[in-house]
Amino acid sequence: MDSLLLRAIRKEPVERFPVWLMRQAGRYMKEYLHFRNQERDFLSLCKNVDLAVEISKLPIKLLGVDAIIIFSDILVPLEPLGVKVEFVENEGPKLSWHRDIGKLKGYDPQANAYVYEIITRLKRELPDVPVIGFCGAPFTLLSYMIEGGSSRDFRKTKTFMWEKEYDFHRLMTLLTETLISYADRQLSAGADLFQVFDSWTSALSRSDYEIYVLPYVEELFDKLSSKHDKPLIYFFRNSSAFMDLAEDLKVDVLSVDWTVDLSSEMLKSDKVFQGNLEPTVLYAREDVLKEKVLQLLRTIPRRTGYIFNLGHGIAPDMDFRKVKLLVDTVKSFSLE
Ligand code: CP3
Repeated sequence: MDSLLLRAIRKEPVERFPVWLMRQAGRYMKEYLHFRNQERDFLSLCKNVDLAVEISKLPIKLLGVDAIIIFSDILVPLEPLGVKVEFVENEGPKLSWHRDIGKLKGYDPQANAYVYEIITRLKRELPDVPVIGFCGAPFTLLSYMIEGGSSRDFRKTKTFMWEKEYDFHRLMTLLTETLISYADRQLSAGADLFQVFDSWTSALSRSDYEIYVLPYVEELFDKLSSKHDKPLIYFFRNSSAFMDLAEDLKVDVLSVDWTVDLSSEMLKSDKVFQGNLEPTVLYAREDVLKEKVLQLLRTIPRRTGYIFNLGHGIAPDMDFRKVKLLVDTVKSFSLE
């Protein structure tokens, strides 16, 4: 496949930097809400292949981004393990399970067949657009299971991790195996590249990341890179604290948040970088937003091997027109 995005990842010459945005299909788009109202809740929407395919394509049609990320959620592979996942309006995800790791079911990747079908359909309908498959990272999913939902300080997750190391290891191992199998099926279904979201490393110290998180992420990327010759992306937050550790992972692209000084990291590294505009900039005035995007682009010390993205996802209350302005600004920044 020869798209702008894949050429940039292979460090071939590009006429401009490619751009896509985390959470690019969501409630900030009225067209999303139109589809959303056709199902009773968010998870049913994820399982409705026809609607999920249409939603996945919205950012291509409405924003003109350079990749599709499949419409789904990081929590869907937890359901086959025996975790009940619900999305409560305006409260975010709620997870419940019997809290006995030994009673969780073994993962059957076929239970998420609707995800692979979304990928197959997107590749058939838009063969020239790169399709990004994704999953959460083991620690980020474990934190949802232990907290039972979103959290501010992750106190249950951290005390579990420190106090019950054996159980922590058992659950992380089960999640890592689950995610390897789930990611493998997405890549086999035709995903052109694959991103792992480690959103809640934002909560961790460097030494806890090194001891409790890194070995499982390593295992995940070792397995995927040995089986598939497709680009792998690792998104991890509090990125500057873990940069050198992430450097040694078998990934092609490091997707970093705004704690990182991109230009100096890129000068030191052979990896491809993705990021890292503060999403909050999207609340600023249009002239400020535009200048912030250009400032970032001007500091990129390479002419390829870089993908523009935010340092985290788009929020539901952001203004669609500003998101479009952001994409247009990146696309107008010529490298020729
Ligand atoms: O990027 C995309 O457009 C693809 C789809 C996608 C969603 N979630 C759709 C979604 C992706 C890649 C995700 C990943 C995801 N989900 C992450 C990692 C990225 C990050 O933001 O850190 C996390 C932590 C989740 C867990 C999750 N899912 C939360 C915390 C929420 C609730 C937040 C909210 O806005 O209410 C979701 C729900 C969710 N996932 C929505 C969408 C479009 C909103 C659902 C709705 O009400 O319509």
